[in-house]
Parts: sequence; C-alpha cells; structure tokens
Amino acid sequence: MANEQFQFSNEWNKIRDLVFQVIDLDLVEQLKNEPNRILREIQTIIRDIVNSGSAYITPDESGTLASMICDEIVGYGPIDSLMKDETVNDILVNGPHSIYVERGGILSKTNKFFISERQLIDIARRLVNKVGKNIDEAHPLVDSRMPDGSRLNVVIPPIAIDGTSMSIRKFGNGRRTFHDLIQYESLNDDMANFLVIATRCRMNIIVSGGTGSGKTTMLNALSGFIGDNERTITLEDAAELKLQQDHVVRMETKSGGEDGRGRVTMQNLLVNALRMRPDRIILGECRGEEAFEMLQAMNTGHSGSMSTLHANTAKDALSRLESMIIMAQPELPIAAVRHYIASSVNFIIQVSRLPDGQRKVMSITEIMGLESGNIITHDVFQFKIHEERSEKGMIRGEFVCNGLVRRSALYDSAQYYEMSDILEKLMINAAGLKI
Ligand SMILES: Nc1ncnc2c1ncn2[C@@H]1O[C@H](COP(=O)(O)OP(=O)(O)OP(=O)(O)O)[C@@H](O)[C@H]1O
Ligand SMILES: [Mg+2]
Repeated sequence: MANEQFQFSNEWNKIRDLVFQVIDLDLVEQLKNEPNRILREIQTIIRDIVNSGSAYITPDESGTLASMICDEIVGYGPIDSLMKDETVNDILVNGPHSIYVERGGILSKTNKFFISERQLIDIARRLVNKVGKNIDEAHPLVDSRMPDGSRLNVVIPPIAIDGTSMSIRKFGNGRRTFHDLIQYESLNDDMANFLVIATRCRMNIIVSGGTGSGKTTMLNALSGFIGDNERTITLEDAAELKLQQDHVVRMETKSGGEDGRGRVTMQNLLVNALRMRPDRIILGECRGEEAFEMLQAMNTGHSGSMSTLHANTAKDALSRLESMIIMAQPELPIAAVRHYIASSVNFIIQVSRLPDGQRKVMSITEIMGLESGNIITHDVFQFKIHEERSEKGMIRGEFVCNGLVRRSALYDSAQYYEMSDILEKLMINAAGLKI
C-alpha cells in the first residue's frame, strides 16, 4: 500500500501545489464552516488541472486527493480525525506514508497517509507555529505542549532520515483519577488507599517505569491528593501535569539557541524552585544532574515531593538515581550517595505497560534504609503474573499485599509514624497489612 501511494506521490504533490496556487483563500475563509462546498471547489480546480494536461490522475484518485486537500484546509489533514478520536492515545507519524496509533496500549498502523513529505511538513509546521515555535533547518527538533495539553514532538529531515516524524501524546482525553485507574485494573482499591495516605502524609515518591507506561498519569492521579493549602511547584520539560489545586506554580524548561544561550535546565528550575518557598516540588521527570537537587528538596523541608524516572524495576530506579547523582557529584563517596537516597525517597511506584497493552502498577516499594552499605527495599504491594493467559491472550495476574514492616531505621520521621498510625487505623483490615 505504502509503495503504491509513494508511486503516485509526485503527481499528487504537483496537483496539491497547483490547487494551493489557484484556490481563492478568501472564499475558503468564508466557507470554513461548509467543508462540502470547499470540497466541491477543490474538485473543480483538480478537474481543470487534469483537463489542461498539467498533471494526470485517475478519477478515483482525484476524489481521494480532493478530500485529502480539503481535510488539510479545514483541519490537520490525515491526522485530524485521529486527533478527535477519543480512543486514540498516541499518534505516531514516521514520514508521509506511515501513520501509527496507539489504542488501549496497542500500537497499530492506520491506512492513512499524507499526500507527500511536503504536505506532512506543512502540517507539522502549522502545529508547531500554533504553539508559538518554529521548525526549520536551524531548529529541526521541537518538543512542545499543545493548547489542549497534548504533547507534540516533531523532527524534520535530515535529522529524521525517512521523512518528518511527529509524535503526539494526547492528553485531551482528560485527567485520570485513581477511580479510573482502578477501573482499568491498573491497581486495586487497597493500593489506591495506600497511595492516597502516603501522599497526604507527605511521603517522597518516585514513579518509575518505561516509555509510555503511565508515569505521568500516575503522578497526576497522586497530585490530586495534595492539600489545597500546600504551595506546590511543578517543573517539567513540556507541561503535562494538571493539578487541580489553587496554589500551584508551573514552570517549564527551555531549550536555548544554537549557542545554548537562554537555556533553562531542570536543574536551574529546581535550584530556583527551592527559593520559592515551596511546600512540595513535583518534577515531571528526573533524568540527569538535577537528581541531586531533587533529593535535597525531598530531604530539606519539602517532603511530599514527587518525580518520575525511567527504569524497569524499582531496584533499577535506585541504581539510576545512584548513577545520576554520581555523574552530578563525582566526588561523593558511594556510601554517602546511598545514604542520601535512602534518607530521601520513601516509596517507588513501579508502573509498566505489559505486552498486551495493559498498564499495571507492578510494585509499590518502600525504601527501608541501609544495611551493610546497600539500600534495603520492601515491596508493600506487588503484581504477580500468572503463567496462563486469558482466552483473548491478555496477561493475567493478581495484586498481592506483603504488608508494611515497621522499623526504626534511618528516617523514622514524625511523618512516617503519622502515616503508620493512619494506616493502622484506616486500612489494616482492608488491605490485610501487618505492621
Ligand atoms: N493505567 C492506564 N490505563 C490505560 N491507559 C493508560 C494508563 N496510564 C496511562 N495510560 C495512557 O498511556 C499513555 C501514556 O501515559 P503517560 O503519558 O502517563 O506515560 P509516561 O510513562 O509518562 O510516558 P513518557 O515515558 O512518554 O513520559 C497515555 O496515552 C495515557 O492516556
Ligand atoms: Mg511522562
């Protein structure tokens, strides 16, 4: 299919160019609420082009091309309907002839395509311009947030070798609460209760997971339980968090010009955030030198801070954190780094996208402290995968609760005891927690 389309691409592109040269833009503006009339106008123009012998396409192709040009004029071409489709989470464009979507965690190729690379780049440019940015040879990579909260990433050739690449992560489908996540069976009631209490008691939490595993969604759901009276500062690369509270300051990093001037890094934002009298700091993602400042924030009066981090297990998350800190502070001895981590992070929520598309909380892991120089962890909850799958090939398993282990270790802070007490009162019976 893609090859067939590709064969026609040159001729179709020529006709598209000619249509845009001829079409009366004032008329299009007047007709913008009547797409059928715009379509008829385009059909007439294409017929004239073909009759004049400037280009050739079959009548069938002519119909398809006219509606594709119309879709481009009234919206965003082949991706317009995907952007409006609420079942689609991600739209991934890999050059003009390959458009994938993700629905319910499963990726599939659509039968949609762009007329040509030129159409694709024009549409990408319009999307990028809409958020006040430019994409051109000097700025071939753009990462941005669209007005509806969706995330947009565009890479143009020659960086993108096979044609412009666009990745859209839709957030228009709303903010998911724990209620939704329980409905999707991403976690159970007890785990949600546990996390609500942990958030309310200002535990420091890291949400760890792979790409697209639901880290930001989890962070959003957790943030719903931050008190209204707490001053929260969110720091992100492209703002995706949607906090409901009143007292929120949102900040975004900024990429600099070619010489790096004007660049504002996550680390810069964190250092500044610490001077803004925050009660809590929420980091969209911790991925580098800012790890040290993040732990510092968690450790110094801003408890209840949260971040996401890319890792496949809770233990991996700890090793990543360790290496990020060592990179930022090479002179720190490893024992000090581990001590620092163990005394800052309270819980790691490990989320995962399973091969069948389901998102699961794989574990809620407590950081217990240090023993013989190693960080000791305890999985309070775990998702245990069963061997056999359901008839539809879905992975099955169950959430198990291993209970809390009371300890007087490193950070037996007032908050920790407050949390244990609340847990004891509220949910030991429900979750079968043993303290
Ligand atoms: N529990 C869930 N059940 C079903 N879909 C989910 C769940 N959590 C997230 N999603 C969907 O999965 C997609 C990825 O979610 P999200 O952006 O939270 O992931 P992420 O781990 O932050 O991704 P990235 O690594 O790109 O930052 C989104 O489209 C979101 O709507
Ligand atoms: Mg994310």
